[in-house]
Amino acid sequence: MTHRIGYLIGSLAQDSINRVLATALVHLAPPRLEMTEIPIRDLPLYNRDDELDPIAAVGEFKSAVEHADGLLIVSPEYNRSIPGALKNAIDWGSRPWGHNSFARKPTGIIGASTGAIGTAVMQSSMRSVLSFLNAPQLNAPEGYLTYRPEMFGPDGEVEDEGTRKFLQHYMGEYAAFVERVLSLTAPGHVGDQE
Ligand SMILES: Cc1cc2nc3c(=O)[nH]c(=O)nc-3n(C[C@H](O)[C@H](O)[C@H](O)COP(=O)(O)O)c2cc1C
Repeated sequence: MTHRIGYLIGSLAQDSINRVLATALVHLAPPRLEMTEIPIRDLPLYNRDDELDPIAAVGEFKSAVEHADGLLIVSPEYNRSIPGALKNAIDWGSRPWGHNSFARKPTGIIGASTGAIGTAVMQSSMRSVLSFLNAPQLNAPEGYLTYRPEMFGPDGEVEDEGTRKFLQHYMGEYAAFVERVLSLTAPGHVGDQE
């Protein structure tokens, strides 16, 4: 059985190291995961005035999140927190009240930065946001990458063997986690009372 995974990249930069990481993760994912990017680039700045009649990009974003079986967030850390473009996308997805697209979506968080802590503080902030939005999260392994140019080849292949093994392990654990959550939240399950 295959699972549709939507991945969000927290950087808008053309040469984003997180886009390189995301490409590597797509290559290393178990074949039963069907990986598709959910773009955030065309979303306007969140404005509550537009919530009930937003531009098409907002509806497309929410629909893509809702149709995914699981989400994977691949993001840099900006000033020890979540990049604004990504937080903006999450804010749109969480609204209007009662229509939170992230509820019950099994979600993984991983990221690369040029700094030594490899997006650890961004991930901690993201966990608070996703907890509030009722999105179950992969707790372990954690994915903190300090980017070195020699880690990746031009097409997203992972040149560094230790990094490749770790990322492959991460995606295997992520797939198993998504499957656990989906089996527990299947319609009609006894624990499913909300
Ligand atoms: C506005 C801004 C803030 C940043 N803050 C951090 C930070 O808090 N921690 C960190 O490790 N790197 C930080 N960096 C450096 C990023 O790790 C680096 O620019 C990285 O390439 C961003 O990922 P991207 O290439 O996917 O956009 C920051 C970069 C920018 C542009």
